Amino acid sequence: MNKNRDLDIARKAASEGVRVIKEFKKNGFEVRQKGFHDLITDADIAAEEAILSVIRNSFPNDDILAEESASYGSLTENRTWIIDPIDGTTNFAHDFPVYCTSVALWVNKQPRVGVVVEVTRDEEFSALAGEGAWLNGRAISVSGTKNPRDGFVGTGFPYDDLSLVNSYLGLFKVLMKELQGIRRPGSAAFDLCCVACGRFDGFYEYSLHIWDLAAASLIIKEAGGVITDWNGGEGWPFGQRIIAGNEHLHRYLKKMIQEYIPEKDRENVA
Ligand code: IPD
Repeated sequence: MNKNRDLDIARKAASEGVRVIKEFKKNGFEVRQKGFHDLITDADIAAEEAILSVIRNSFPNDDILAEESASYGSLTENRTWIIDPIDGTTNFAHDFPVYCTSVALWVNKQPRVGVVVEVTRDEEFSALAGEGAWLNGRAISVSGTKNPRDGFVGTGFPYDDLSLVNSYLGLFKVLMKELQGIRRPGSAAFDLCCVACGRFDGFYEYSLHIWDLAAASLIIKEAGGVITDWNGGEGWPFGQRIIAGNEHLHRYLKKMIQEYIPEKDRENVA
């Protein structure tokens, strides 16, 4: 695994976030409703503060885009840290495994560093642009699965935007018949990392935000995978519609989405 100061700080910040989440898990926490079907806990807020404090101490001039404290905007050319303190808050609130801390650094609107830690399994996924992707320090790569019948794919069910439910379920029905299996773990960052290390062959979802994807998208790319929006384009960071996979399953999922989701619903949001 490569050494790099940005990556070191990202790992340190993520591990601080994880430490705080584990403390709240042990000692108890309050859950509130942030929006429709959208939960927030004390642990989200405290973990975000802990992560931001590591980053601000090391890089006081860098910009921050964080799920719980910063406004949702667009990226600039500046160095920008993109944070999701708990991706999978609903799982965490229900003591259901699979929730992650996600820390990314983007520079000039491109990902430079990504770290995702799945808290319940102590799995640290990381990547450095141009240098590779790792799981607990060991190099990872996407699967070689070619045939959809052998395909094991992750997906997600959006909490807030239910406008595509009918066509999304239509697609789901067909994929249930054609794929080997579909899973909905409940943390998009983890789902994408599962593609990166070859557990999943592909992934698709809509209504995702940049903090869910900022770190894991680099981890996928550095592991040899593909990530696009639903039309195969580059609008995914703010477009909310995602397909990821090894090149074969990505191509298959794109074809199926184009067949089963009407054109107007495939458009990026922003
Ligand atoms: C959520 C998770 C989930 C996805 C939701 C996201 P959060 O993130 O990634 O898998 O289906 O759309 O909002 O809210 O737990 O950070």
